[in-house]
Amino acid sequence: MSKTRRIRVGVVGAGGGAGSGMVWAARTSEEMELVAVAEVSEEKRKKLTSELSVPVYGDYQELLARNDIDLIVNATPNWVHAEVATAALKSGKHVFSEKPMAMNPREVANLLRVEKESGRVLQINFEMRYSLMSRRIKEIIEAGELGEVKNIHFVHNCGGTGFVKKSGDWRADPAKVGGYFIEEGCHRLDLFRYYLGCDPESILAVPAPNLRGPDGWHRGYREPACTLCFFPGGKLAQLTTIQHLGVYPVEVPGMEPELGHEYEIKIVGSDGGLRADFWRAFIQVVYFGGEEGNTRLKRTESYQGLPLNVLHHDSRGFFLDFGRRLLEDKPPLVNAEDSARTMAAVFAAESSMVLGQPVAVDYSFISDLS
Ligand SMILES: NC(=O)c1ccc[n+]([C@@H]2O[C@H](COP(=O)([O-])OP(=O)(O)OC[C@H]3O[C@@H](n4cnc5c(N)ncnc54)[C@H](O)[C@@H]3O)[C@@H](O)[C@H]2O)c1
Repeated sequence: MSKTRRIRVGVVGAGGGAGSGMVWAARTSEEMELVAVAEVSEEKRKKLTSELSVPVYGDYQELLARNDIDLIVNATPNWVHAEVATAALKSGKHVFSEKPMAMNPREVANLLRVEKESGRVLQINFEMRYSLMSRRIKEIIEAGELGEVKNIHFVHNCGGTGFVKKSGDWRADPAKVGGYFIEEGCHRLDLFRYYLGCDPESILAVPAPNLRGPDGWHRGYREPACTLCFFPGGKLAQLTTIQHLGVYPVEVPGMEPELGHEYEIKIVGSDGGLRADFWRAFIQVVYFGGEEGNTRLKRTESYQGLPLNVLHHDSRGFFLDFGRRLLEDKPPLVNAEDSARTMAAVFAAESSMVLGQPVAVDYSFISDLS
């Protein structure tokens, strides 16, 4: 792709969470140009039309029919992702699609096949990998400071009074949101694969007690209390989640306190470990030193003062990185097959939570294509 021009962007789905951020990112980046938006909500279309100087369509097919767009952002709700991403690739556009990649293995396999046939590039927004603290954690691991990484423990507490069952909210409809791992846990399973550098063989996800009676889940879908991901060589990644305690652990200017996500990650290797607190913005590195191999503090890295989205949820940075790579004819930082492998783990975790037993991760729908 020519380096002399900007990436021309179309955004499908301009909701409050993801799409409007991408509209803003495309408008404010020097390397991008926002060409058009598609949004099914009439109310949102009216607002967008009054704010933007680009066409705002009701039907995304009208946007895909344009031949002056290079890259489609797919920020529709989960159950619409596969349909829009597939159509966008078939129309000859590159695609930056929100997580989850799709709702089931069949849709994921189809997307991989269509991407291959189209000659275009699909990147899924598993942006926690790109975020500053995650990349720093990966650097520490790759520098060998922890020795061989063997155990990861991730705590994710998530609130979201805004997502509590309300009429018309797709996040409260299990058929549309897909489930905890499809909607939320996918980020964590993706990070486990990223940090450990290999794929889980099996997963056991234990459901949390239902605090609100039958079908009274806090966010509309079954929630896990604890998830164990078994990796080759006896390596283990544990995820502990509480979906009812998501008040931000620190005061965040401009954010509703009850809409919090809380992340803490501990990684232990043969020679040392680290603890990263994404909200308090520090990484503490320890080593096992002395004759008795005692745990000793090596250093604490502080990232206080940096914006929280850059620290752990840098969707904008990941999106701009993708655009830059397209301009430079470079492969994406995370390719679609890699994200499909995270999705294979996600589907195993969802099944495990229902079956109440460990489930082997089935990667065959990916390898069958190669
Ligand atoms: N990567 C992340 O960390 C992250 C963060 C937030 C949201 N997300 C993901 O982004 C997606 C959107 O989330 P959100 O919070 O913005 O949801 P949202 O409901 O606020 O926005 C979705 C928008 O898509 C529109 N839409 C639905 N079907 C459409 C269609 N066929 N054509 C055009 N527009 C359509 C809806 O009207 C709505 O405005 C979800 O899949 C969510 O999981 C990811």
